[in-house]
Amino acid sequence: MELIYPGKKTEQDILLNTPSCNLIDNNENNNMLIKGNNLNVLQLLRQSFNLSGKIDLIYIDPPFATNTIFTIGKDRVSTISPSQNDDIAYRDNLCGFEFIEFIRERLILAKDLLSDCGSIYLHIDYKIGHYVKIIMDEIFGVENFRNDITRIKCNPKNFYRRAYGNIKDMILFYSKTKNNIWNDPKIEFTEHDKETLFKKTDKNGRAYTTVPLHAPGETMNGVTSQEFKGLKPPKGRHWRCSPKELDDLDKDGLIEWSTSGNPRKIIYADEKHGKKMQDIWEFKDYQYPIYPTEKNIDMIKNIISASSNENSIVLDFFCGSGTTLVAAIELSRNWIGIDNSEMAINVIRERINNIPNTLFNKSGYSYFEATTDEKELYNSRSFSAVHGRKRFGVGV
Ligand SMILES: C[S@@+](CC[C@H](N)C(=O)[O-])C[C@H]1O[C@@H](n2cnc3c(N)ncnc32)[C@H](O)[C@@H]1O
Repeated sequence: MELIYPGKKTEQDILLNTPSCNLIDNNENNNMLIKGNNLNVLQLLRQSFNLSGKIDLIYIDPPFATNTIFTIGKDRVSTISPSQNDDIAYRDNLCGFEFIEFIRERLILAKDLLSDCGSIYLHIDYKIGHYVKIIMDEIFGVENFRNDITRIKCNPKNFYRRAYGNIKDMILFYSKTKNNIWNDPKIEFTEHDKETLFKKTDKNGRAYTTVPLHAPGETMNGVTSQEFKGLKPPKGRHWRCSPKELDDLDKDGLIEWSTSGNPRKIIYADEKHGKKMQDIWEFKDYQYPIYPTEKNIDMIKNIISASSNENSIVLDFFCGSGTTLVAAIELSRNWIGIDNSEMAINVIRERINNIPNTLFNKSGYSYFEATTDEKELYNSRSFSAVHGRKRFGVGV
């Protein structure tokens, strides 16, 4: 499947001909906050910082093609009825195929930056999200599509509309390959879960439940089709593990035998670290955000914990108020944040400065400003990348 629209560039054209930029920085660190147009900065990360294939996780929350101006006033952050005196945080005014191509160019560069165990999460709304899904299928491959997560973002709305209230948006999750980092996040059992899922109690008072020892599918000659204590798995099924492992479980008292001689595995409530997380999440955004469309930090922490490890680099190239960066710092990940809004950069810097610098968190960073000034770009063509990152000249 492919989306066709006017002005759609080829992938080769985007990878080879997207101009990069220059960076002016003021100190040294692995983590980077970069002010600039993310298209050119992504190209710079590939061409001069050698980061192709090195980023384990990308979370982005781009503009949603809403044709809205987002502002920050003296007393409040606003999307609707901004006052004349409010400062503009950013403009979301690209729509239709122009918006799609804007996202697509960036995603093509972003894919190249992802490591083989990397993942990308793209936050989008229900109006444009389905077009973005097709573009992501084209770029990352349908086979690498992992989830379309429904995120409940706010309380139910009651104002009149000839349609249902909208309380959700979507997060499209893709991996670069089948070997994506996956730390299987769990949701803690509620008291109600414990009561309904673990109805039995053993002689020591421990709550437990039982599950079948066999699974669908017959193996012809494998060990899992052999007898365990004189029993074959039921027709059309195989044992979940070898008869030897079943024997060990039985010796450890982890098999319950029914009166009719049917064995089942015992699962204790106090040994299960919660239940598997599903694809409907409730992480409502803040009623009084510090930046327009600021996202819930617990949601981003969940993504970072699930799809990156401590030595991973996490990238957000529409980082807004820096929620992803703060979450990465608090979870001891390396990070790169990019945004082209002066207001966003000011909010991020203040937010990060307020995080206490401990032995484990990674709140130190280099700050860069990108310039794509034509004259500078022209001059930069002649000098090679300088390490040390004081000023980064790049070939375009
Ligand atoms: C929806 S906001 C991100 C909010 C963020 N997730 C948070 O929690 O605060 C989108 C951000 O993308 C930035 N942006 C839009 N176009 C950009 C571009 N071409 N390059 C860099 N940043 C851009 C805007 O300035 C804005 O801060």
